[in-house]
Formats: sequence, C-alpha cells, structure tokens
Amino acid sequence: MEVIIRPSTDEAAELVAKIVADELRKNPHIVLGLATGRTMERVYEELVRMHREGGLDFFLCRAFNLDEYVGLAPDDPNSYRYYMNKHLFSKVNIDLRNTHLPNGMASDLNNECEEYEKLIQRAGGIDLQLLGIGRSGHIGFNEPLSALKSRTRVELLSPQTIQQNACFFEDISKMPRCAITMGVATILDCRRCILLATGEEKAEIIAKAVEGPITSMISATALQIHPRCTVIVDELAASKLQGCDYYRWVFMNDPEWGPYR
Ligand code: GLP
Repeated sequence: MEVIIRPSTDEAAELVAKIVADELRKNPHIVLGLATGRTMERVYEELVRMHREGGLDFFLCRAFNLDEYVGLAPDDPNSYRYYMNKHLFSKVNIDLRNTHLPNGMASDLNNECEEYEKLIQRAGGIDLQLLGIGRSGHIGFNEPLSALKSRTRVELLSPQTIQQNACFFEDISKMPRCAITMGVATILDCRRCILLATGEEKAEIIAKAVEGPITSMISATALQIHPRCTVIVDELAASKLQGCDYYRWVFMNDPEWGPYR
C-alpha cells in the first residue's frame, strides 16, 4: 500500500483523475471500476474537464460500478445509476452499453449478483478500481463483518451507513435498507485500487484502514493485502495517521511517482 497526502481536497481528487486519465490513455480498452459518493464527484468533474478540454477518450473503455441500492430504479435520483449518468456518463463519450451497475430492481437478486461477477470476469477483470470509504470503514457497501472472501451479494446496510446517507433521501424511511455490492474479494481481484478520502470526518477511519490490524469489521483494512493499492488523502483525512513523514518520503523518492510530484 502507498499513501499519498495532498495539500487540499481538490489536489487529492485531481491526482486521482490524473491517474485514471493516464491509465486510460495507456490502454483505451481499460476496464474501470467506479465508485459513487460525495468524494468522487470532484474526480468525475475533473475527468469531464479533461474530456472537454483535452479530448480524453472514453469510447472504448468499459466500466463496472461497485454497488447499487436495492429497490431503486435507474431513474430514481438516489440510485447510483442516476448518479453515474449525471456526474460522468452523460458528460463524456463513454458507450452506455459498456457501463454496468448491479440492477437493484432485479426480481432474483442473488442471480443478479452471480451474473454481475460473471460479467466482470468475462470483461477480463477490473484494471483500475476507484474506492471511497464510508464512516463504517466500508468499501463498496461491505459493512462490518463482511467476509474478506465475500463476492458480489446483497448486503444489509449498517445503522451508521443509513445515518450517513439518509440526508439524500426525503426522509430516512425512504432510504433502502439493502444494497448489492461487489464483495471484498471481488475488489481485491482488481489489478489496481485507488482509495480516495478527504476531509476531517474521514481521518479516524483512514488511520484504522491504513495502520490498524486487518479485520472484517473494517473492510477497507483488506486493502493492506492488495498488491497495488494507493490511498490518496488530503491533509485533513491524513491528520490521524502516524506515519505521514514516511509516506511523504516514499512519494518523493519512488520513481513511479515522479510525473505526479
Ligand atoms: C457510499 C458508497 C461507498 C462510498 C461511500 C463514501 O456509502 N457505497 O462506495 O465510498 O458512500 O461516501 P462519501 O464520499 O459521500 O463520503
């Protein structure tokens, strides 16, 4: 794992967008793993800007999202399909047929989960997975006690997550209690993972995710065993990390990061 600390929220998000853009230019057929949430909005904004101003080309790439609420239709403004269309897909030249989210309206949800895993495999696996982190430490919607070997499945949302995301719904009773999410093992299979966290409210969970013991209580800790995971944070989200000096030293000295310094 590597930790990169950027001075501001914008600079953290811009670095993520730059990495995605570089990988996309290197491999126009890339399979992207995408995430939702407030933190990612800035990344998508930047990718849209690169598309408009620099001709960043999404036409051949394929995309799989981490998760979707159960019971929300694609045209529901709180569905993740709606979020993705709004923030990215409708603003770049991605072929919508190459964009995938689990269908939270499927009549057979377990079958939908199995098919989603197969679809990812048939695409050759995910090359680059973007991740946010919930206050419960979830990646995707892998709530506390998610097995480290879990696959795409229906997950019951934790009280903390319901509290965190309820503000998007007109009232808390309208918020779905379940979601379909890629499992922890599905995420660990991705060739490269980038986790972005910004703001003080993420400081405590980032410290646990990066420096704490690996535990199914905090699914983000599983990323410690991923062979190529980069955690990108702003100063606020980094404020409870013990090893900041070392992380900064690695960033300044690792030739891989030369173009990004
Ligand atoms: C949701 C998503 C997660 C995301 C998290 C963080 O719960 N399922 O994939 O990482 O939100 O959200 P935010 O960026 O709004 O803090």
